[in-house]
Amino acid sequence: MRLIEALLRRHIGLNAASIGSALIERAVRGRMQAHGLKNSDTYHDLLATSRQELEQLIEAVVVTETWFFRDQESFDRFTQIALHEWRPRHPAAPLRVLSMPCASGEEPYSLAMALLEAGPPAPGFTIDAVDISALALARAERAVYGKNSFRGRELGFRDRHFLPTMEGYALSPLVRRCVTFEQGNILDASLLAGRPPYDFIFCRNLLIYFDRAMQTLALAKLHRLLADDGLLFVGPAELALVVESGFHHAGLPMAFACRKAAGNTTPAETPPPRPSPATLTETPRQPHTGDPAPPRIAEPSSREQVQDLRDPTPAMVDLEIACQHANAGRLAEAAAICDAYLTLEGPAAQAYYLLGLASDASHDPAAITYYRKALYLEPNHYEALTHLTLALEKSGDVGAARIFKRRAERAQPKP
Ligand SMILES: C[S@@+](CC[C@H](N)C(=O)[O-])C[C@H]1O[C@@H](n2cnc3c(N)ncnc32)[C@H](O)[C@@H]1O
Repeated sequence: MRLIEALLRRHIGLNAASIGSALIERAVRGRMQAHGLKNSDTYHDLLATSRQELEQLIEAVVVTETWFFRDQESFDRFTQIALHEWRPRHPAAPLRVLSMPCASGEEPYSLAMALLEAGPPAPGFTIDAVDISALALARAERAVYGKNSFRGRELGFRDRHFLPTMEGYALSPLVRRCVTFEQGNILDASLLAGRPPYDFIFCRNLLIYFDRAMQTLALAKLHRLLADDGLLFVGPAELALVVESGFHHAGLPMAFACRKAAGNTTPAETPPPRPSPATLTETPRQPHTGDPAPPRIAEPSSREQVQDLRDPTPAMVDLEIACQHANAGRLAEAAAICDAYLTLEGPAAQAYYLLGLASDASHDPAAITYYRKALYLEPNHYEALTHLTLALEKSGDVGAARIFKRRAERAQPKP
């Protein structure tokens, strides 16, 4: 099961601890049963070779819970700022909004309803909506909703924009036309690449399912996608981690919004130009039709992703900062930065050494492997030599410990 959890983490960022290993195990058992498999290693082999099966498992583990106007204050602030602050600064540009992850569409459709009701800001707006789940996107395209999607006390919007049908509440075509859905993985380097920046991004209730390293990668992507004066809305439980990672709190009570931190706003590449102004009716909807193309599943260590993510976030993924965390005893933070650094920048002795320290602190035998990797890259890394000596002694490998002790004595810095 560990191997399957690691595979899910690598491909979609899912941290098994966030939803519980039991839930993942149940999903895996269900899929194994569908294939008549009894052995989880055999199923792991299938996952490693069949993209289709990987997608099925992803569908079984993602949490697509959502509802209209979830955290109402975020939508109120969004329209208020879009119309009264953003629009006067950009009188000729169409407003660009991204909802990622959008799940079954309640969030982007809420954004559309909020804008339509506030008076659509001329010269128009576009709302792009992205999610990894093909099933959730199919529900979004259908736009017929049951009562679970309407949870607040203020449900007047349902009378204004939906028609009750035998199957549920059907959303009006006017609102549906405002949103363009697309299947995608936030960790995929090519996702939305080359698009102009977004003025508002809603990325809510996704980062909570990632560990620190994957959060860092996702936030780097969001940083690149957001306009320099744009606003990023996250979930209530996510604001704290976002403001530690290249964004600062926008100071909007109960809206969980942040902006790019000053001094961290200059991606090396020039952002693509904005599209020419288009009115609402001029912006054709590109429906998500037929069989969806399979989502690009992330390979976070690919060169493509390194190019895509490295430039916008030099301040966040820095080994100096990792060392400062380690020196202050914050080894988990240090390890998260090192993980992200290795993904973005490639092998580095100091990153492996710090990962060794973090593993040592939690009595994880992987520490020895990390120290050895550090020494492979930098054979005279004195701290790695001394810590490896101690770790080998603790593990009972006295012979190897003696060899590294001698190397450490030779590498000891001269006073
Ligand atoms: C809890 S829903 C959040 C929906 C909405 N943003 C909200 O706050 O109500 C989480 C969504 O994240 C999607 N998701 C999970 N991993 C993803 C990834 N790596 N890239 C894009 N979407 C992902 C899931 O399919 C799911 O629909």
